[in-house]
Amino acid sequence: MNKIDLDGHIAIVTGGAQGIGFAVAERLAESGAQVASWDLAESNEAAMEKLGSSGLAVSCDITDWNSVTQALAQTRDALDTPNILVNSAGIAGPNALVEDYALDDWQRVIQINLTGTFHVNRAVLPEMKSANYGRIVNIASIAGKEGNPNASAYSASKAAVIALTKSLGKETAGHDIAVNAVTPAAARTRIFDQMSQEHIDYMLSKIPRNRFLQVEEAAGMIAWLVSPENSFTTGAVFDLSGGRATY
Ligand SMILES: NC(=O)c1ccc[n+]([C@@H]2O[C@H](COP(=O)([O-])OP(=O)(O)OC[C@H]3O[C@@H](n4cnc5c(N)ncnc54)[C@H](O)[C@@H]3O)[C@@H](O)[C@H]2O)c1
Repeated sequence: MNKIDLDGHIAIVTGGAQGIGFAVAERLAESGAQVASWDLAESNEAAMEKLGSSGLAVSCDITDWNSVTQALAQTRDALDTPNILVNSAGIAGPNALVEDYALDDWQRVIQINLTGTFHVNRAVLPEMKSANYGRIVNIASIAGKEGNPNASAYSASKAAVIALTKSLGKETAGHDIAVNAVTPAAARTRIFDQMSQEHIDYMLSKIPRNRFLQVEEAAGMIAWLVSPENSFTTGAVFDLSGGRATY
């Protein structure tokens, strides 16, 4: 494992209780950062205990602006002002054709994946701008580039996260702030519980490496993207698709 120096950095990882978010939280803590996992899962506390004194569990629903501002205040009080943000909280939603897609499922996927990601970016940016430093990674998906069948809400929400990231990259480029997105292919986490086996098989069949992404592989790329060394690239989309993406 490469050494990335995040000594003294304060990171928020949304959805850090499990899956990709937890792998990122672990990697950032191993690199010297203090990490606050903002998650609504009960398991968040136990997950952060695994990081010892480097982990802080903050109960937060990213769809609720008040919950986000409270989580920021709690993080600042316990650690310090965050200068790293990784937005990993997200859901897949059900697999269905557009004409069969339940209206409330559509709203929920957009609320969490897009509006929640917007909320957290919105909350942390003023202090990053004042400090003239910040590193943000929004976790999108290969589905946001390609549009997976039977996953329209998810694909649309992730395409929007890519566009949000590009807008933010330009808005903050006058500061030492980098806002980038990553687009993973499928990684075997508990998000698979929300998907049909047919959909999981479809996603695997599209990956030229012929295997799922490991969460540690995502964490490795993200840890570099939130390090001071990533000082030029912003508003960009980093591939984690095992050869699937063609752009
Ligand atoms: N695993 C994959 O195949 C895959 C592929 C591409 C992109 N992604 C993206 O990576 C991110 C992480 O996925 P994962 O596989 O680790 O999923 P996961 O289901 O293992 O973890 C998601 C976490 O988000 C939290 N969360 C959900 N709604 C929340 C809310 N409103 N407020 C706060 N926390 C909330 C959950 O409690 C959970 O801990 C997601 O954005 C997902 O869309 C995953």
